[in-house]
Amino acid sequence: MLTDNHGRKINYVRLAVTDRCNLRCFYCMPEEGIDWLARTELMSYEEMLRICSLLVSMGIEKIRITGGEPFVRKDILQLLTALSKLPGLQHLTLTTNGVLTAPHVPELKKIGVRSVNLSMDTLDRNRFFSITRRDELPAVIETLEQLLRHDIEVKINAVVMDRRNIEDIIPLVQLTKELPVSVRFIEEMPFNGEGNHYDHLHWHYMRIHRKIEEAFPDIQKLPDPPHSTAYNYHIPGHKGNIGIIAAYSRTFCGTCNRIRLTPQGMLKTCLYDEGVLNVKDLMRNGLANDAIAAQLITAIQHRAINGFEAERLRKEKKSAHESMATIGG
Ligand code: 5AD
Ligand code: SF4
Repeated sequence: MLTDNHGRKINYVRLAVTDRCNLRCFYCMPEEGIDWLARTELMSYEEMLRICSLLVSMGIEKIRITGGEPFVRKDILQLLTALSKLPGLQHLTLTTNGVLTAPHVPELKKIGVRSVNLSMDTLDRNRFFSITRRDELPAVIETLEQLLRHDIEVKINAVVMDRRNIEDIIPLVQLTKELPVSVRFIEEMPFNGEGNHYDHLHWHYMRIHRKIEEAFPDIQKLPDPPHSTAYNYHIPGHKGNIGIIAAYSRTFCGTCNRIRLTPQGMLKTCLYDEGVLNVKDLMRNGLANDAIAAQLITAIQHRAINGFEAERLRKEKKSAHESMATIGG
């Protein structure tokens, strides 16, 4: 079992398989994209499998594939299939924008993926275009339908953006009336590849909650599962649930059980740190698994206590110019 220097159990890895994406979400990257990583800078599937296998042997029980957009990387299902066979891995999940995902859903089901996070910030085609700069809402909805048809649990991620999708909050909540999905509203973080869009966070988690409560006064708080990053709610009579994720206010660090690997193989022990260990370089330098495991343990033993400390400890204060596509959601 992996435990950090603050007594938190670490059993969850988020692996970003590419920085590339077929959308250009306003909150993630600029219109022209970011400086994409060269192929050789990315971990190969062999390297990903090796490091994941090592991490699972050290106590990791859950792996989430993220990006960029995972389905933009060639043959991603080969990696997923190989990961699904790791002994000891209990949950294999992924986060996708849903543009290319629908045709792969039967295969995901077959390899044992039981839950998928789908990014969908709006149900309105024009607003979808203005947020993502691509006209792809129909493809995303097709993915949602396919996932539900295959009985895969769906969490819908909606980043709440001032003046961009506030009018979508209530329709997204209404989606939970008929559909057994969890709709999660996420505070916008300044990881958009170009710096802060605002001088302060306009839609913090309490304001989002207030807005929903005005329309649904009978909204009920649910108990939050251990390590949940969301405050969870239910509206009586609805099939699905609501979550609010204070990604910017960082209220959940005390129970954080996750680490991240960027597409370049950088280990992040916090979303807000700048990367603390490059495991790809260790592997390419010929280190044996035992030596890599020792360095992983050391890094996990030097974890910041929360996202604020991690941000303070960065040597380069350029966090605002990072993109979520290289951090991996
Ligand atoms: N702020 C908050 N959430 C973000 N995501 C991407 N960029 C940001 C940001 N700047 C979310 C997307 C995706 C998840 C992996 O991260 O909604 O669903
Ligand atoms: Fe692509 Fe996700 Fe970033 Fe949008 S948020 S540009 S879908 S990686």
